[in-house]
Amino acid sequence: MQIADRLNVVAESITLAVTAQANALKKQGIDVVSFGAGEPDFDTPEPIKDAAIAALKAGKTKYEPTAGTPEARTAIADKLRRYNHLDYSPEEVIISVGGKHSLYVAMMATLNPGDEVIIPAPYWVSYPEMVKLAGGTPVFLRGEPARDFKLTPQQLAAAITPRTRMFIMNSPSNPGGHTYHRQELHELSHVLERHPQIIVCSDEIYERLVFNGQKSCSWAALNWDFWKSRTITCNCLSKTYAMTGWRIGYTAGPRELIAAMNKLQSQMTSNITSFCMPAIVNALSDPANEAAVEKMRLAFEERGEHMWRRLNAIDGVRCVRPTGAFYCFVDIKGLLNRPLGLSAAVCRDAVEFARRLLSDAHVAVVPGNDFGFDDHVRLSFATGMDQINRGLDRIQEFVTGGAGR
Ligand SMILES: Cc1ncc(COP(=O)(O)O)c(C=O)c1O
Repeated sequence: MQIADRLNVVAESITLAVTAQANALKKQGIDVVSFGAGEPDFDTPEPIKDAAIAALKAGKTKYEPTAGTPEARTAIADKLRRYNHLDYSPEEVIISVGGKHSLYVAMMATLNPGDEVIIPAPYWVSYPEMVKLAGGTPVFLRGEPARDFKLTPQQLAAAITPRTRMFIMNSPSNPGGHTYHRQELHELSHVLERHPQIIVCSDEIYERLVFNGQKSCSWAALNWDFWKSRTITCNCLSKTYAMTGWRIGYTAGPRELIAAMNKLQSQMTSNITSFCMPAIVNALSDPANEAAVEKMRLAFEERGEHMWRRLNAIDGVRCVRPTGAFYCFVDIKGLLNRPLGLSAAVCRDAVEFARRLLSDAHVAVVPGNDFGFDDHVRLSFATGMDQINRGLDRIQEFVTGGAGR
């Protein structure tokens, strides 16, 4: 079978290879502690489920408008106004099949071959691949751990060329776990304001998962009058409401962008699952869900603090304190090229480290290579405290020459 050339630009995911290895061990009955999950370990709040069940029972099983029902788009526009201080109308919103699909359709609708897209590193694995599939060229800008992975305005200014077309902002960040302060975003936005050809794609899917009093801030709200016409605001219900499997994402932006995305999506997926539309309305407008969201946030905050403290107590390990999302992105430079585990073999990079940690200590972590850092690993704290402690005990033992299990 001939496979299209366009797929040659897409990289195989190392993450998937490590996940497959972890699953194979689990199948053999081995007790693997997994820090790989990119999804909440909580269930979707009941009122949201009830709304979908009621819609299904009421026969909401037919095609709907591609961009979503007027009710669901209105609920999203209301939420954006209330929570994000963004004044989008329902016609400036389109609902897609998860945050990933929202971002993909947005990039396909805006990028041309040769367009450069500035992506702060560490980055979510799919950004560079989406950019390449849309014909664009990713340009990576490394955020240093000493600055909590945040870009400086000088770095951003130096990366801009006449071909720069888009800047991707993801705050709170996967995998960095960092969250930009409003002032820091302002400083970056002042740099971009001088270049009218650049649009911003703001991935705000972790906005509600912020810790230690940190607040998230929507890019377009930095200066609504200026940024409205140049910002793509992407979000989803996946992380906030523990709805990863539902596949609900949304994009808000200028009318012409939403019309273009609508055109593309109408030839791809059409609308999302019809009986999920009332669930969107419920998720975003029923106050009962707020308590569930806050309960999850508090649990992530407690686990994140605990994991961060324990990681930093391990010799050779450095970790930026997470202020958002549910990841610790861990610097393991101090563990490379030194004897580890019972075999005392050395690891040269994060992939080798993750493989050894899994095979020897039965702990699954995600190597940072797919995120642009080959000397870091990502640990998700979207798992219970007992698992966190067991996994960290194993890591501690593994790096100090023990079996780790
Ligand atoms: C930064 C970021 N953006 C987008 C997505 C995609 O979200 P969804 O599961 O809704 O497709 C993820 C998922 O992990 C993510 O971490």
